[in-house]
Amino acid sequence: MEAMFKRIDHIGIVVEDIDASLETYVDALGFTLLERMAIPEQRVEAAFLDVHNGALELIAPTDMGAEEESGVARFLRKRGEGTHHVCLEVEDINAALAELRARGVRLIDETPRQGVHGRVAFIHPKATHGVMIELLEKDRHARSDS
Ligand code: CO
Repeated sequence: MEAMFKRIDHIGIVVEDIDASLETYVDALGFTLLERMAIPEQRVEAAFLDVHNGALELIAPTDMGAEEESGVARFLRKRGEGTHHVCLEVEDINAALAELRARGVRLIDETPRQGVHGRVAFIHPKATHGVMIELLEKDRHARSDS
């Protein structure tokens, strides 16, 4: 079988405050900010930093203290700032999910949802020794090679 995972697209890092984290990553460490956005439906703010052939994604929850906190807010409360997920690019996310299901891998998302750069789905961290893996099938127009 052809390899399911093409490359690391980005690594997600949960932070308390996007502005403070950008001061660190852009001003102090010298990363280039690719884009910054609010993602209200996930109750987070995100910023992508260029790492040549991949990216770092800084993610801050906007709903700390809400009655039903987002997953990112709960993560921050429980574990503090730090690495949250590894995003792997796949050619065909439906095929990847079907293959993983067939292998009995526990998924968070049974079907892909639309993310910022394409369709995404998460594998359950219990299935992968504690690492949350995000699968990404990039939107056609977002592909760098087309
Ligand atoms: Co991500």
